[in-house]
Amino acid sequence: MAGMAAPWNTFVEGDNLDVLATLADGSFDLVYLDPPYNTGNDFAYRDDFKGLRGTGSAGRHAAWLEFMRPRLAAGHRVLADTGAIFISIDDHEVAHLRLLMDEVYGEANFLAQIVVNLNAKGRQLGRGFATSHEYVLVYAKDAARCVLDASSTTTVMETDFPLVADDGRRYRRLPLRNTNKKFNPLTAPTLHFAVWGDPATGRVATAPFEGAVEVKPVFGDGAPAVWRWSRPRIDERPDDLECRFVQGARGERVDVYQRDWRHPVGGRRKKLRTIWMTEEIGSTDTAVAELKEVVGHVFESPKPTGLIRRILDTMPSDCRVLDYFAGSGTTGHAVALANVADGGRRTCLSVNSAEPTRVGSNAERAGYPTVAAITRARLQAVADQVGGGLS
Ligand SMILES: C[S@@+](CC[C@H](N)C(=O)[O-])C[C@H]1O[C@@H](n2cnc3c(N)ncnc32)[C@H](O)[C@@H]1O
Repeated sequence: MAGMAAPWNTFVEGDNLDVLATLADGSFDLVYLDPPYNTGNDFAYRDDFKGLRGTGSAGRHAAWLEFMRPRLAAGHRVLADTGAIFISIDDHEVAHLRLLMDEVYGEANFLAQIVVNLNAKGRQLGRGFATSHEYVLVYAKDAARCVLDASSTTTVMETDFPLVADDGRRYRRLPLRNTNKKFNPLTAPTLHFAVWGDPATGRVATAPFEGAVEVKPVFGDGAPAVWRWSRPRIDERPDDLECRFVQGARGERVDVYQRDWRHPVGGRRKKLRTIWMTEEIGSTDTAVAELKEVVGHVFESPKPTGLIRRILDTMPSDCRVLDYFAGSGTTGHAVALANVADGGRRTCLSVNSAEPTRVGSNAERAGYPTVAAITRARLQAVADQVGGGLS
């Protein structure tokens, strides 16, 4: 209907190669994929690569690559020039996938290989190391034009702002002095001047006042430094500055600090590191619990919505998301949760084949004959519980 907003979630059942062929060039901003890992024993769906090309591991890898290559190429075509793709993968195929992505997306568009800790205890079965992580490979369609912002608001912790002002607002102290040696009285002469401060009251001004001492910017070794703020800025924002005694290598001295406030909603972002921990994004166990809440324990290794939400957080809040290995529908679920949380207008197209669930599996016993039936059931339950609709 004209003027009506698109539903947040759309589901299409089918082989993703066929579905991708129907999608327009550049029509998605973000692709998230969690393809079969080629482990040979994936649970709710079969892993068809065994024996496709002989029985050796080389044959298995070759068959997997043959399956993935046209699907990654089609994903590349439907991704906008400003977009990015995130792909989950484990040790079985990470090396092969990285090279294949270099081929399809171009090495210059590689953004990161993130280590994702989804199983804090590590896999205790079998011999050898207790593997506790997998990977997310991140590529831009075109690194020069990509709008991805590799930072997040959620990684900004309360504890980053350890101090509390009289009015209850949290803050941290940042030296007003510029600590970068590139900035000094020679390179930034207008920022080298004396200010006056009273360490008893904390007050700072650019002119002398009762009880104030003169403070000049100096480096730890006593060499002259410069401030980060100009005189007018210091006069405009006295409440954002604090004068105090500090214990330096050369004894006690008086210095001036900026009070850097924690802004409670939005705004402040922190660069994302390339190791993501279960405490930050959830684990396979929490993902199973999330799935149980909506449709039951009908898929063995879903991803946690926290992982997808962190990925969504790197892209604009109206972004068009595509997941063509949708499985239990985690990506669509995360999109709905993110829209509710920040009022965003993201949309998500999920695609999964009508792959039969294994005979005797939880899924089959719960009445889901195919993985696609699970995807659809979860996205419908999400639309009912969270809103945003499903088409
Ligand atoms: C690892 S699972 C994805 C799990 C998902 N990220 C989640 O959180 O539940 C991979 C999915 O890809 C689906 N799949 C495999 N080959 C496919 C194909 N050619 N077209 C569409 N879906 C496919 C499988 O049925 C399976 O559900």
